[in-house]
Amino acid sequence: MSATPHVFISASEIQKRIQELGAQIDADYAGSGPIYLIAILKGACIFMSDLARAMKTPARLEFMGISSYGKGKTSSGQVKVTKDLDVSIEGFDVIIVEDIVDSGVTLSYLMQLLEQRKPKSLRIATLLDKPERRMRPVEVAYCGFKIPDEFVVGYGLDYAEDYRNLGDVCILG
Ligand code: IMP
Ligand code: MG
Repeated sequence: MSATPHVFISASEIQKRIQELGAQIDADYAGSGPIYLIAILKGACIFMSDLARAMKTPARLEFMGISSYGKGKTSSGQVKVTKDLDVSIEGFDVIIVEDIVDSGVTLSYLMQLLEQRKPKSLRIATLLDKPERRMRPVEVAYCGFKIPDEFVVGYGLDYAEDYRNLGDVCILG
């Protein structure tokens, strides 16, 4: 691998923003809970673990696996559930936690799928959003950072499974 990661959003900026998102979620869900946080594997795990601790509202942590991308940087355009929930979300507040919304294909599919399971409410939290790339409309309730159309890695995001454990969000240059 020849590319060098350059810091685009630093670990401290990320942590500061996540504290704000946690406070926003607490304000929106005041007096309710537990909220099901559903992280989309694998990229969103790191964001979910920090977001869950930035909020005071009781949360339950769940995971779903969705494949929409191959091993490279381009979308296959296909969405498949590779790991489903093993709990019922009926009647619960649910927040889908994603690392990045790009084309919106993954999340528009997932919103439709989870709506059918009758949650009390269903929202999306994403660390990053690339609005320029949107092909399907997706309503994002909690967004860390809107970014331009650059391929980023780190803080959970990978390129061919590498770079997920960088603390900063980086651009490969
Ligand atoms: P979407 O269905 O096109 O919105 O795809 C979202 C998924 O694509 C994310 O969960 C990531 O796994 C992947 N992805 C999109 N953009 C990037 C990027 O810049 N870096 C790493 N992964 C990305
Ligand atoms: Mg992902």
